[in-house]
Amino acid sequence: MMMQDKQGWSGRFNEPVAELVKRYTASVEFDRRLALFDIQGSLAHAQMLAACGIISTQDLNDIRRGLAQVENEIISGEFIWSLDLEDVHLNIEKRLTALVGDAGKRLHTGRSRNDQVATDVRLYLRHAIDELRGLSHTLQTAIVDLAAHHTHTIMPGFTHLQVAQPVSFAHHLMAYFEMLKRDAERLADCRKRVNRLPLGAAALAGTSYPIKREYVAELLGFDGVCENSLDAVSDRDFAIEFTACAALIMTHLSRLSEELILWMSPRFGFIDIADRFCTGSSIMPQKKNPDVPELVRGKTGRVNGHLVALLTLMKGQPLAYNKDNQEDKEPLFDTVDTLTQTLHIYADMIGGITVKPEAMRSAALQGYATATDLADYLVKKGLPFRDAHEAVALAVRFAEQRGCGLSELELEELQKFSPLIEPDIYGVLTLEGSLASRNHIGGTAPQQVETAIARARKHLQG
Ligand code: ARG
Repeated sequence: MMMQDKQGWSGRFNEPVAELVKRYTASVEFDRRLALFDIQGSLAHAQMLAACGIISTQDLNDIRRGLAQVENEIISGEFIWSLDLEDVHLNIEKRLTALVGDAGKRLHTGRSRNDQVATDVRLYLRHAIDELRGLSHTLQTAIVDLAAHHTHTIMPGFTHLQVAQPVSFAHHLMAYFEMLKRDAERLADCRKRVNRLPLGAAALAGTSYPIKREYVAELLGFDGVCENSLDAVSDRDFAIEFTACAALIMTHLSRLSEELILWMSPRFGFIDIADRFCTGSSIMPQKKNPDVPELVRGKTGRVNGHLVALLTLMKGQPLAYNKDNQEDKEPLFDTVDTLTQTLHIYADMIGGITVKPEAMRSAALQGYATATDLADYLVKKGLPFRDAHEAVALAVRFAEQRGCGLSELELEELQKFSPLIEPDIYGVLTLEGSLASRNHIGGTAPQQVETAIARARKHLQG
């Protein structure tokens, strides 16, 4: 609920702010979401002020009592938010003062909303990153679990979306595990730079009170303080960096979504996605649409957009704080929300995939997926690779005209393309032979992929 009120800074002004301007500049409708982090920051700040003798113990106790009540009111929904009080910070401070009097007015000693909001956003984001890392872990586990069943399920690997060489479905899935693993590392690394305390920077230059910033940092679980006050209040690079991490995760999931959509199309028919993740058509009764992956692909655009919005927000700002920074919140919040929902739904959806090995296999048998294996066979018998490539290209053309696969050609027919070809070629031209031969770290041989899965499980447990 919103109501009219007097701002915390109106003493200097001759006329009230225009209604339109008030609505234009207020952020309370969205920064309310920071409320509990704002209280957490205020409690630590007050504790430090008391410890340094800047406010009395009585004031600290009053502030604690008041903020506890404010917190209860916010959680229960009773708290009355006022647009006139501009933002979350002034709303809370005003209510605190109404509850406990002068102690509430002393809370803002040695602090500015500039270092306060920077602290709140960092506390919020640290919490969000920790949740997201958990969700990413669950998704990675779901991918590895699915892969573990399919080290011998053969599908065509593609380049240019043309059949290239056979791979196992597990190998294909484990590529996404690698991407998500790097994404999780990026989030963990970003957290280090998020987890620094701006408080104490005050408006921009620091404060003349004898504060102890390291003490506040410790109380709030920060790894240290921001070491330059101007930088502390003005940069949002940590939020940009986080959004870049998020955009990469979404981009990876968008690629996987594109594949799930293709694979579910009857033209591929490689997989089915559980009904609960799909919708029907209001006009075409036969349709089952992969709405969830389509939306993931679509929502990637919005997160990528937030990254560009934040970069653009920052690029023209002189030091130190500018009101522009108030615009950091909505893109950041929406990035966190979108990514949270996406990781959550994705982990469930992966668990609801039905694999159709026969369709994958017959697709791998079309398109001469083992042609490279034939070329490699000739090379191992002494033919230079370029000559082998040419010989196999001619063999493929011949088989294509015949409308059959390479392994369906007679030995004498194959030998027309190279006398080096012997009966053992038929082992090489099979899908299984092709996979098994790529037996080195990173290769698609079942033995290697099993090892990769074991490594992944160890990593996820560690
Ligand atoms: N709502 C503001 C923001 O989000 C808080 C800081 C305002 N500081 C100021 N000097 N007006 O950035």
